[in-house]
Amino acid sequence: MILELAGLAAGYGAKTVISDVSFALEPGQILALLGHNGAGKTTTLKTVMGLIAARAGEVRFDGTPLGRLPVAARVALGLRLLPEGRGIFPDLSVAENIDVVAARLAGRGAMFAPADLYRLLPVLDERRATRAGSMSGGQQQMLAFALAILGTPRCLMLDEPSIGLAPNLVERLFAQVRDVCRAHGVAAVLVEQNVAAAMALADRVVIMNNGQIVFDGTPEEARAQNVWHYF
Ligand SMILES: Nc1ncnc2c1ncn2[C@@H]1O[C@H](COP(=O)(O)OP(=O)(O)OP(=O)(O)O)[C@@H](O)[C@H]1O
Ligand SMILES: [Mg+2]
Repeated sequence: MILELAGLAAGYGAKTVISDVSFALEPGQILALLGHNGAGKTTTLKTVMGLIAARAGEVRFDGTPLGRLPVAARVALGLRLLPEGRGIFPDLSVAENIDVVAARLAGRGAMFAPADLYRLLPVLDERRATRAGSMSGGQQQMLAFALAILGTPRCLMLDEPSIGLAPNLVERLFAQVRDVCRAHGVAAVLVEQNVAAAMALADRVVIMNNGQIVFDGTPEEARAQNVWHYF
């Protein structure tokens, strides 16, 4: 298992908003993490990334408990988060965004160097000199995805990556996620409002409700068990 969550609990202030969250995924697997607004999906990803502290349970990466390891160290291990609401530098150009992150993460032998990103995402190649914040929402989202995979990712966590993308771009982004995972053995946790599209892409489906996991199974099982009332 590349990523394992075991009995994870986390929250804000006095409020614990997720509890007893457990799931695991293997290299190359895509897991769709679904649930209605406020279910605790983003909180789960932030806890795994180390942005907020776990109150109980643990996260294991490649078999090793992460404990209180800081975010930067988790990134260096290959754990990556595409945050809800992007996570790009709006005042830098596309190329500057990529170069800033590449300077830290994409050394010799990296899985994805800047040239690989420009080949994978021509929309960015055409806009290297454009100020990131002046691009359309969808173009910014593609840049955020590029920054998430730069270097050598081993487990991607994508928090609503399709927000603001036109349907044909969603298809292309999902195809790229699949290629990154299948061809390079990268695991992915995909949080999506687009339930049908996420289920079509995923090997596993985990559904959260009120901070807890209420379903964990294959997309076929999810369809057969009529889980739609959770959305
Ligand atoms: N920074 C915060 N401070 C206090 N409470 C928060 C904070 N962020 C989230 N919450 C609360 O935690 C709960 C879970 O929120 P979370 O953002 O994890 O849900 P989500 O499943 O990602 O929802 P969405 O689909 O709307 O993105 C909600 O009740 C929310 O109000
Ligand atoms: Mg969220």
